[in-house]
Amino acid sequence: MSAILKDPLQLLIAAQQPGQSLAQSFYCDLAVYERDLEQVLSRQWLVVDHISRIPNRGDYFLFDIGNESIIVVREDETKIGAFFNVCRHRGSRVCLDAEGHKGAFTCPYHAWTYNLDGSLRSARLMPADFDKGVNGLHRCHVRVLEGFIFLCLAQGTPPDFDSAYQPFADWLGFHGFANARVAERRSYSTAANWKLVVENFIECYHCAPAHPEYCSVHPPELLLAYGAGPGSGPPEAEERFARELADWEVRARTLGHPAGFLFSDAADSPHLRTLVRLPIGGTHKTETHDGEPASKLMGQFKEFDGGETAFVFNAVSYLLAQNDFAILFRFTPRAPLLTDVEVRWIVAGDTEAGRDYDVGNLTWCWDVTLKQDKKITEDNQVGILSSRYQPGRYSEHERRVSTFVDWYLRQLA
Ligand code: FES
Ligand SMILES: [Fe+2]
Repeated sequence: MSAILKDPLQLLIAAQQPGQSLAQSFYCDLAVYERDLEQVLSRQWLVVDHISRIPNRGDYFLFDIGNESIIVVREDETKIGAFFNVCRHRGSRVCLDAEGHKGAFTCPYHAWTYNLDGSLRSARLMPADFDKGVNGLHRCHVRVLEGFIFLCLAQGTPPDFDSAYQPFADWLGFHGFANARVAERRSYSTAANWKLVVENFIECYHCAPAHPEYCSVHPPELLLAYGAGPGSGPPEAEERFARELADWEVRARTLGHPAGFLFSDAADSPHLRTLVRLPIGGTHKTETHDGEPASKLMGQFKEFDGGETAFVFNAVSYLLAQNDFAILFRFTPRAPLLTDVEVRWIVAGDTEAGRDYDVGNLTWCWDVTLKQDKKITEDNQVGILSSRYQPGRYSEHERRVSTFVDWYLRQLA
């Protein structure tokens, strides 16, 4: 029997037609889901939160993905640690509360206790030859860039962080994220496979039918050309928008602000990143109902320039930044048909709720949009479970989805 016939997934990959949605199995099978976690997502540096969530020594939160739970803890003033939440005695979860503050982590089963650096502090009644020094919590790869915490669950050497993410550093720095803070956290847990959540996020074909509020902020010619970033819309729409884009870029650069396209990775790239700064369009200064500022200018912005920066770190980690606030989106698989959609609204570090911003104003556009996205994505998932589902053709407005599917299949192959 040939190798390809031994692996049903390879048959599925080989049967996939370019420019079409994936076959049903990719969206619901446990075996595919497990391969997604092992082979696709464990090779990524996942953005899990902003450092302002754990400002003091001993502050921690759990990041859960698939069957894994990672303790992300402030080890000391300068160091963030990340550890697999698995006791080295007999494997119990060590930490059960989703977030909090601890001086040490004590396993609830037999009370082995671990220091904040993951080392084993105490274990009762162990044999004389037991070595505490080699029984610390397993470390997870962790890096911090301009205030954002990245984890990689790879077993061995992770992909090179600096070559992938230093190219984001200047623009992240310009936005002032290292000194920012989270103003609001919300969760939009979605009963759908993680790839459906991603696919929905990277196309704006659905914007007009599904998102009246979002479409009241961004004009239709922008949403058609760049609604989900460069390479997401029809090339003719990009051409039609070129003059407006060029004029805005000149204005932004005159202010000393970043503008334009830095990069947008192709399907054969390891991380499918994008970094681009585009106009919001129309007269909006920021992404609010009335277009007026929601908070203080962040970082080095001198005035409102009507721009929005899209930092796409990988297929499941996105940051959309206005002049005065930003939104971090993370899409995390929890089960084949369940995805955590965790969102953070981020503002300048010296702001105060009520005085400098109103949470309702800040969250208006994306809160309603994410609730709509949850509904349409869950409806998409149940439709795909039908015996009559078959892969369908992508439109010219779903080009980035096609790129994502191509990238995903290459990661799996
Ligand atoms: S499993 Fe943790 S102390 Fe026994
Ligand atoms: Fe949407």
